[in-house]
Amino acid sequence: MAELKERTFIAIKPDGVQRGIIGEIIKRFETKGFKLVGMKMLQASENLLMDHYADLKDRPFFPTLINYMSSGPVVAMVWEGKGAVKTGRVMLGETNPADSKPGTIRGDFCIDVGKNIVHGSDSVESANKEISLWFKPDELMTYTSCAFSWLY
Ligand SMILES: Nc1ncnc2c1ncn2[C@@H]1O[C@H](COP(=O)(O)OP(=O)(O)O)[C@@H](O)[C@H]1O
Ligand SMILES: [Mg+2]
Repeated sequence: MAELKERTFIAIKPDGVQRGIIGEIIKRFETKGFKLVGMKMLQASENLLMDHYADLKDRPFFPTLINYMSSGPVVAMVWEGKGAVKTGRVMLGETNPADSKPGTIRGDFCIDVGKNIVHGSDSVESANKEISLWFKPDELMTYTSCAFSWLY
């Protein structure tokens, strides 16, 4: 069923990598039941980041954002499952960690909107765009998780 194959793009930002929170973030998506279908660590180029954040190019914080996101390696991931985009955003919390509830990733692990440790797609449409920006088709895995019939 197509709805069980919804995919979202999640990225651990340079501060999440530097602060040693990679495992915590992966763990939350993994134990929730989403299926990891793509993952890599990379130093994102400015061109990639400008495409990724194209919608925000007129915002005053855009140069700071590009600088922040290119300040070190990131961990790029694709997670799959029913409602992965919307539920992924709920798991992240609000853009500003100060507005994020405890129990969310941003609510639990960071303080400042300019250092909010993780990215998640905000719609299925932007997820598809972001996945194709960050991953080649052959970097996305097709496999059956043994947990599938215990989740759905
Ligand atoms: N006012 C701000 N000051 C500094 N950085 C910001 C600000 N607003 C947003 N950002 C940064 O830009 C990223 C993208 O913004 P946005 O798409 O609005 O949020 P989200 O990441 O929650 O989808 C945020 O995650 C954050 O890193
Ligand atoms: Mg966004």
